[in-house]
Amino acid sequence: MNTEFTLSDRTLTLIRYPAKHQHKSLQAWDSADELLIEHIGQELPALSGSQQPWILFNDDFGALGCRFAEEQPVWVSDSKIAELSFKENLATNQLPAVTMQDCLAPLPDSPALVIIKIPRTLALLESQLLALRKVAGPQTVIVAGAKVKTVTRSVLALFEKLIGPTKTSLAKKKSRLIFCQPDPEVLSREIKNPYPTVWPCRLPNGQTLQVANHANVFSRQSLDIGARFLLEHMQVSDHDNLLDLGCGNGVLGLNALSMAPNAKVTFVDESYMAIASARLNVENNFPEQVNQCRFVASNCLESLLNQLARPSYTKVLCTP
Ligand SMILES: C[S@@+](CC[C@H](N)C(=O)[O-])C[C@H]1O[C@@H](n2cnc3c(N)ncnc32)[C@H](O)[C@@H]1O
Repeated sequence: MNTEFTLSDRTLTLIRYPAKHQHKSLQAWDSADELLIEHIGQELPALSGSQQPWILFNDDFGALGCRFAEEQPVWVSDSKIAELSFKENLATNQLPAVTMQDCLAPLPDSPALVIIKIPRTLALLESQLLALRKVAGPQTVIVAGAKVKTVTRSVLALFEKLIGPTKTSLAKKKSRLIFCQPDPEVLSREIKNPYPTVWPCRLPNGQTLQVANHANVFSRQSLDIGARFLLEHMQVSDHDNLLDLGCGNGVLGLNALSMAPNAKVTFVDESYMAIASARLNVENNFPEQVNQCRFVASNCLESLLNQLARPSYTKVLCTP
């Protein structure tokens, strides 16, 4: 893996977590990160050291967080893997600790600067802009970056609809920037937050669940074909200690609880929104079983294997 990231006056050593499993052609930053760093350094020096907070969304592996660690941004991500990458990169480069939070935690008020890496899921961007509307003001500078193909009309329309007038830079090295000016009139419009979405899910045994999905969660409106197939063939008993690995909204574990009300289920996902959705779905559909369930944000089984007392599971449910 190429780990030396040099831009203008700084060199950082950056990995993608877990470093030992990455292909040597990969690196932990992209040209959108470079454009964002150059733009902020050259055009926005007055924001350095601001009394008002910086917020940084969806930093893939912590390249932006490391470059701006001295500014103490609030670093917001839905990904446990991104968080593990960022922590390791901060430590390697002997940088100060930074406040990290998931996308459901409240944002700090009146940010001076908001830096956004445009996420793959439009719904995640929508939910983040809906949260940002509550804290941004006309003084907030918002700059986003992404690969050219990700800067679609739908992305720009979301910024316009939820925050205010939006422009883009010219493309450079296959990436471009988005500049959005918060408009008090747009910010004051009443706009309903559609997340979490809720849909009825009929299980093979005839029980219908109400399944809630936070914005960044797979299968937001219906059951995916792989999950449906697995549900139809699932065999579980009340004695099982189950692992729903990559649980998303938790539909596999929920089906297990419906079939075997005494089974224990551990829901694992690297997405915090997935874990929050699975928890909500157990609370809403199987309130009496909540205490026999665990909800763990983890890269695969890592967090579980790192525990002193390693759990032993009878079955692993997974639709990767
Ligand atoms: C195809 S979805 C399946 C979700 C759910 N089981 C279903 O059937 O609807 C795969 C899930 O795996 C999670 N995932 C991907 N890589 C992971 C990793 N390294 N560790 C834990 N979860 C991961 C994703 O966040 C996603 O929620």
